[in-house]
Amino acid sequence: QKGGYPHFMLKEIHEQPEAVRNTLFEVSDIKKIVSQFPEFKRVTFVACGTSYHASLVGKYLFEGLLGLPTDVILASEFEFSEKAIDPHALVIFISQSGETADTLKALRIANKKAKTLAIVNVLGSTATREADYVIFTRAGPEIGVAATKTYISQLTCIYLLAACMCQDEELLEELQKIPDCMKAVLSLEDEIKEMAGKYKDAQDFFFIGRGFSYPTALEGALKLKEITYIHGEGYAAGELKHGPLALIDDDVPVVAVVPPGKSHDRTLSNVQEVKARGARVIGLGSEDDPVLSSEASDMVEFPHQIPELLSPLLYVVPLQLLAYHISVQRGIDPDKPKNLAKCVTVE
Ligand code: M6R
Repeated sequence: QKGGYPHFMLKEIHEQPEAVRNTLFEVSDIKKIVSQFPEFKRVTFVACGTSYHASLVGKYLFEGLLGLPTDVILASEFEFSEKAIDPHALVIFISQSGETADTLKALRIANKKAKTLAIVNVLGSTATREADYVIFTRAGPEIGVAATKTYISQLTCIYLLAACMCQDEELLEELQKIPDCMKAVLSLEDEIKEMAGKYKDAQDFFFIGRGFSYPTALEGALKLKEITYIHGEGYAAGELKHGPLALIDDDVPVVAVVPPGKSHDRTLSNVQEVKARGARVIGLGSEDDPVLSSEASDMVEFPHQIPELLSPLLYVVPLQLLAYHISVQRGIDPDKPKNLAKCVTVE
């Protein structure tokens, strides 16, 4: 059942290139759905947990590619914004299970006021029956409590949707290259396992990134918390100096997500700030980034040609592996973290 892997989570991490490939087949259904759309004036994403992080990537994408004002609301907070729902908005619900109670409650509120779209991995789930439009993520069943391949498939759907809405054929072609790039990233597993051994006894971690890398930082921190029980804080890199810099010292590893592109130089200066306070930095960046490599104690290198816009699909993978290997090295079963359920059916 685990296909030779010691845990479902590791199997599911390695299934991600295939998950992307399968999800890319959704493109024709997505084109059909998009052709039925009325004109939307804004987009609102609603989700919880990892699905919320996928939604944040959606915000940068929809604002950047379509110029549509886009907000992202936690499903558990949605009722407090009910009066502000724009009837001309597309409200997009992202949920692996399609059964998360907070998400369903928000979907029922939104259905009364605007068009709703559910991006869901489970066929026939409640969200698929109640939303106006449905897109399937086609990740296949995910058994591990930590969302991995479903996150990657959610991101793939969001990229497909944005590309179809703005008829960006070039982006659709770029997406086809992701499965092979992801295999190359997965081949770095031994390095990341060794890195896990160096950091497994830390009590606190920071994960920082800007723009497209901010949701990756949040997701890396969430994976760490849920399966290693180490405190991990995901932060927009530019916010560090507004408070949390006071917590940084040589006991706190900082994972910095620094792909080449618009956010690069400013995140790099944040790396220098935390280093000056003694932090050990794990840098995620291009193979062609000598400054980041010289600042980082450990470095995960990605092919230079990956554009910042697509980096969320690849840069999260080493963070999943890091959390997984720290979990195993701390004697925890990553498939069954304490206090957590795969599907949260209570508000
Ligand atoms: O099924 P959903 O996507 O609606 O679940 C939302 C969250 O409970 C879920 O993403 C959770 O945060 C992950 N299991 C974390 O890995």
